[in-house]
Amino acid sequence: MVFMYSARSSEIKPFTVMQLLQRAQEFEAQGSRVVHFEVGEPDFVTALPIVEAGIEALRGGKTKYTSAQGILPLREKISSYYRDQGLDVPVSRIQITSGASGGLVLLAGLLLDPGDRLLITDPGYPCNKVFARLVGAQTRAIALQAQRGFQIALSDVEAAWEEQDRGVLLASPANPTGTILAADTLAEIGRWVARRDGFVILDEIYQGLVHEESPYASGLAVRDDVFVLNSFSKFFGMTGWRLGWVVIPEDATERFTKLAQNLVISPSSVAQSAAIAAFSDASMVVHQERAAEFSRRSKRLAAGLLNLGFTIPVMPAGAFYLYVDVTHTGMLSDEFCWRLIEQYQVAVTPGKDFGDFESERFVRFAYTTDSNSIELGLQRIEQALTAWGIRR
Ligand SMILES: Cc1ncc(COP(=O)(O)O)c(C=O)c1O
Repeated sequence: MVFMYSARSSEIKPFTVMQLLQRAQEFEAQGSRVVHFEVGEPDFVTALPIVEAGIEALRGGKTKYTSAQGILPLREKISSYYRDQGLDVPVSRIQITSGASGGLVLLAGLLLDPGDRLLITDPGYPCNKVFARLVGAQTRAIALQAQRGFQIALSDVEAAWEEQDRGVLLASPANPTGTILAADTLAEIGRWVARRDGFVILDEIYQGLVHEESPYASGLAVRDDVFVLNSFSKFFGMTGWRLGWVVIPEDATERFTKLAQNLVISPSSVAQSAAIAAFSDASMVVHQERAAEFSRRSKRLAAGLLNLGFTIPVMPAGAFYLYVDVTHTGMLSDEFCWRLIEQYQVAVTPGKDFGDFESERFVRFAYTTDSNSIELGLQRIEQALTAWGIRR
């Protein structure tokens, strides 16, 4: 049977990383050991206190819908998490979502109409354009240059902004570059956009995963009117529980709740009860240790890759990625990734999954794999470069 599927579903491009992952799984099914640098999720399982709270929630019958905003005790925990960061974020502005992805769907529904446009970055999180497209809006990508530290500038927004633009979506720390958005820039862009009745969405899903102390805890410390996206996926190690939150201005909360009621009814009740335990002292120690482990891995992998002749034009400040220039191999990044998986069973993601701008130069390494695998990966890459005549 043939149906008339939507134009927007035809426009979505599959990610190369999924094809690479499939290839990796085929090698694994044949018994080969694959080194995974492609997966953007922590290799650690969820911290035990959270798992136990989840089991208790199931046993205790926390299996019903909750309110669309999310359960109050969890929103209170998030509010006090911000208080610990020196920020006053009332519970009324915090809404629980099904991951940051769920937050993006709802924010798109809240902020964009057909024909509107949203400014995003290139490179950036590849799904961003799909959320806008789903509500009939378009995106325009602003190129981030390595020689400018992958930082956006107000002048970029000024140059790109046209009548149909409604706002800007930024991330800090960013995927795939690990860059923390400069506070001054966020302040300037926020001020400039607000004068045009526009909005800034700041994706802080990698909050807490930083290598040095962050210049500001949350963008909310810089501008209180940004729409902040956050998630339990990364720092809190709960990818599969599908839970996140947004902080939105007070006057948007009622509309947002209405959208959530209609589109998702409520986020997962079990995940919400479990996530309360994510803020306990015992869990926080686990999250902090894991964040420190990511920083150690970042340094080790970066040193190993630099030693092999790769260039890392901007050392990341956070997240768990290195955005690496492969120009010295004489290959475009896509070819490099495919040869590496086919011949040496090392999986990395080509830059084209994150945009078009200079993406043929770059690959993303996710160090969401243990130290032994990182060492094995580096050894295999060294062998590859030697066999390909790139390194003697
Ligand atoms: C920048 C960014 N935003 C949002 C997401 C979505 O995450 P989740 O829906 O698991 O919270 C991801 C996932 O990798 C991401 O990298």
